[in-house]
Amino acid sequence: MVKVRACQVELDVTVAGQGMPILLAHGFPLDHSMWDEQIGPLAARGQVITPDLRGFGGSQVIAGTATMEQMADDLNALLDTLAIDRPIVFCGLSMGGYVAFQFWRKYRSRLRALVLCDTRAVADTPEAASARLKLASSVLTEGTRGLAEAMVPKLFGPATLESQPGIVEAQREKVLAAPPEGVAAALRGLAARSDVTDYLPQIALPTLVIVGQDDAISPVDEMRGIAAAIAGAEFVSIPRAGHLSPLENPAAFNEAIEQFLARVERDR
Ligand code: MLT
Repeated sequence: MVKVRACQVELDVTVAGQGMPILLAHGFPLDHSMWDEQIGPLAARGQVITPDLRGFGGSQVIAGTATMEQMADDLNALLDTLAIDRPIVFCGLSMGGYVAFQFWRKYRSRLRALVLCDTRAVADTPEAASARLKLASSVLTEGTRGLAEAMVPKLFGPATLESQPGIVEAQREKVLAAPPEGVAAALRGLAARSDVTDYLPQIALPTLVIVGQDDAISPVDEMRGIAAAIAGAEFVSIPRAGHLSPLENPAAFNEAIEQFLARVERDR
C-alpha cells in the first residue's frame, strides 16, 4: 500500500499491473482487501488501482459526513496524483457502486467502462435513512460490534454462511476493526445519497452489472432493472453468492469481469 494525498484526504492505495486502468471501489464498511481475489487475475490484464475509501482501512478518517460525491472527488484527485490519464474501468461494489454513479455524473470523460456490483440506484427510504443516522450515533458511542452483528449475516448468501466460515469471520473482523468515526461519516453519507435512477438511461458506456444470486441487500431483480435501464448493459448473476459476490464466488465473478474486460479492450 502507498499513501497518496488526494484532495483534502490521505488515501491508502495499491496499484498492480500495467495497461488499461481498472479502479476497484469497495463496499461499506470494508476496505480494499475485499478485492484480494480479483487483484492478481485483473493485474494480468491492466493496471489495478485499489484504494481504501476515506474513513476505511488505512485511509485517513475525517469526521462529519462522507458523501458519495466527496468519495468520487477523492478518487478523481487520486487518479490525478497517480498521473493516470487513460480512461478507467470503474468497478464499484455496493457503496463503491454509489460512488461510481457520482463519478460518472461528475467525471464521465475519465471513464472507459463501468462495472456495477451488488449495488442500488435508489436512495434510502426516510425510515432507512433515519435508522442509519441512529446507527451512526451508536457506533460513535459503542463501537462497531452492533453494526457487525446486524450486518455481517446480511452480507453473505446461505452457501457462504454454511460452507465458508473463514470468509465470514474475516469480514466480521474487518467490520469490528473499522474506525467508528469513518463508519459514522459514511453512514451519514449513505443516508444522504440521492436517487440516481433517472441517470441510468443517460449512461452511454460499456456496462456490466453483476449480482450475487442470493444478495439480500441489492436483490437480483433490482439489479436486473438497473441493467435494463442502461442501453446495452450486460447482466450476470453469480451462483452461490450473496452481497459480497467477488469474495464468495471469485471464480465466477472473475470470469464475468474478465470476459467483459476482453470485450471492452477488443472494441476500443
Ligand atoms: C455496502 O455493502 O456498501 C452497503 O451494503 C451499502 C448500503 O448499506 O447501502
